[in-house]
Amino acid sequence: MAAKSATEQKIRVGLIFGGRSGEYEISLLSARSVMDALDPDKYEVIPIGITKEGRWVSAGLRALELGDEPMQPAALLGDPSHAALMQVHEDSNRRLSISAVSELDVIVPILHGPYGEDGTVQGLLELAGLPYSGAGVVGSAVAMDKVVFKKVMQAEGLPILPYELVLRSEWEREPAQVIERVESVLHYPIFTKPVNLGSSVGISRCDDRAGLEAGLAEAALYDRRLVAEQGIEARDIECSVLGNDDPIASVAGEIIPSREFYSYQAKYLDEGEDASELLIPAPIGEKLMAQVQAWSLQAYKVIDCAGMARVDFLLEKESDKLYINEINTIPGFTSISMYPKLWAASGVSYPELVDRLIELALERHASKKRTRTSYEG
Ligand SMILES: Nc1ncnc2c1ncn2[C@@H]1O[C@H](COP(=O)(O)OP(=O)(O)O)[C@@H](O)[C@H]1O
Ligand SMILES: [Mg+2]
Repeated sequence: MAAKSATEQKIRVGLIFGGRSGEYEISLLSARSVMDALDPDKYEVIPIGITKEGRWVSAGLRALELGDEPMQPAALLGDPSHAALMQVHEDSNRRLSISAVSELDVIVPILHGPYGEDGTVQGLLELAGLPYSGAGVVGSAVAMDKVVFKKVMQAEGLPILPYELVLRSEWEREPAQVIERVESVLHYPIFTKPVNLGSSVGISRCDDRAGLEAGLAEAALYDRRLVAEQGIEARDIECSVLGNDDPIASVAGEIIPSREFYSYQAKYLDEGEDASELLIPAPIGEKLMAQVQAWSLQAYKVIDCAGMARVDFLLEKESDKLYINEINTIPGFTSISMYPKLWAASGVSYPELVDRLIELALERHASKKRTRTSYEG
């Protein structure tokens, strides 16, 4: 048999970026770093963009970054017998036809926030029978939902901050009762958040009743479920986890936000001397470090994460009491983001990390394929 050519042997990686989320821009930055780190001798990258409006396009990352190049409509079908990137053609009578443009061996979704990190895209990839990096449907969805996540952590015996769930419909119908209810269980400062989002979009620190009203109104712009959470004076501590059934935890890091809290501005916009700082390892002492790592692994496993996730904690300044805050199943992934930097400090370089994520995706898929889908009793 003739030897396979180099291109035939390459792993075809469908890199998905963009997405219908407030974190679109961050996704493009993360995807750029991943793209640059994928070894061209080993991988063939098939870029798959999702525009802010949710249109799937077969286009290079640059096309989305610049937004001005023509973008060919594309699709993935939820059908394992057509597990390829499809191009969609529309004729003058608006009749659609599709054709396969590229077979895919594995998908790396680098999408942050709703419609990407929350189990939706993962569901499509499951239907398509394609291996993909990161958590599956349940892990993604639970991690994205701040309230369901808290419930699960509570059941697991991990400490969380007190909170109150507020539906947008009740907030709009009876704001005075909602304020009264929140004030009866929490005291100021209170943090208000959309339940399903990230990057601190829609989050406010509320120091009084007027602030709480404004905070809930702001959060209500982004979700139909809102959460009011007990605010504390806290340090932001984060830990990276990598693996499937036997995950490992990195050294934990600390963020020194450039603002009163780690807001969108502090995460992405403040630059140079004004930028937020990352301290790696976090100066928290051995005992807390071990605690953070153990709880990170416990939380990761209980919500059925896979591949990677960053587990975030709030450490109360005065008491050194540690609370689990959230899990990010597709954490910021630029080369200067916390997730890869924590691994770099723990002995795993950025390109190794990307390799490992792809291996883990293939390994998990292979293990799933052993599962029966028909009853042969
Ligand atoms: N209850 C709280 N008390 C104190 N600070 C908080 C609280 N909740 C959030 N913060 C601050 O706001 C930031 C963003 O909140 P977080 O829940 O992590 O949302 P996101 O999913 O958008 O990152 C945190 O990193 C922290 O700095
Ligand atoms: Mg966060």
